[in-house]
Amino acid sequence: MPIELVKPSAKVLPSYLEALAEGNFCNMALGAFADESPEDISKNPDDYIRRVNDTSPRLVQMPDGSEYSVTDHELYWLVDDNRYLGSVSLRYSGDRELIEEFGGHVGIAIRPGLLNRGYGVRASMLALQLATTHFKARGIHSIYVSCNPNNSPSKRLIEHNGGKLAKEKSDAFGTGPSLIYKIDLK
Ligand SMILES: CC(C)(COP(=O)(O)OP(=O)(O)OC[C@H]1O[C@@H](n2cnc3c(N)ncnc32)[C@H](O)[C@@H]1OP(=O)(O)O)[C@@H](O)C(=O)NCCC(=O)NCCS
Repeated sequence: MPIELVKPSAKVLPSYLEALAEGNFCNMALGAFADESPEDISKNPDDYIRRVNDTSPRLVQMPDGSEYSVTDHELYWLVDDNRYLGSVSLRYSGDRELIEEFGGHVGIAIRPGLLNRGYGVRASMLALQLATTHFKARGIHSIYVSCNPNNSPSKRLIEHNGGKLAKEKSDAFGTGPSLIYKIDLK
């Protein structure tokens, strides 16, 4: 089965819950968006799937107390059939500071048990293909992505995908230093 990006679904949820048990993991959607524990998700799985597929505008609270909005966004799961491999968050629009100076237009995370096996590179290629279609349809031809300067795998991924360093922030809204790269969509 080839790996693919799909919308979160009940059939992949058992594998997602296994992934959460593997260690620290973030679903990559900005802010506390559907970050519930396996116990809480299991109490009402249908509600969880409904919420992670909700693309309506929402607020993101930063550690320094400031609030920003994401107005158009989508979450995808990277899967191999029913096996959850990671998450890709696309943030199409919202407050400029949040997207261009903090989180970026795209966020990618691979499940803890599958790190360093090339899934990040494959996920980023699929994410860039999807992003190219979805961002261009919204009139966006260049995207921003960000990472912590100490996050070597993320820096490598961004470089693989043609990212050019655009800005460096010593402290992005109380979250620490951040590198912001620009990628021109082909
Ligand atoms: C960033 C992340 C998605 C990379 O996924 P991954 O599947 O572990 O990465 P890959 O195995 O595909 O490797 C990606 C690149 O990073 C390099 N890399 C992987 N782990 C590394 C490490 N610990 N140190 C340095 N480089 C590393 C790989 O060598 C590869 O580069 P190369 O092809 O030039 O050799 C993953 O580390 C992750 O989920 N991190 C947590 C969330 C996050 O930080 N996301 C980024 C913000 S958008």
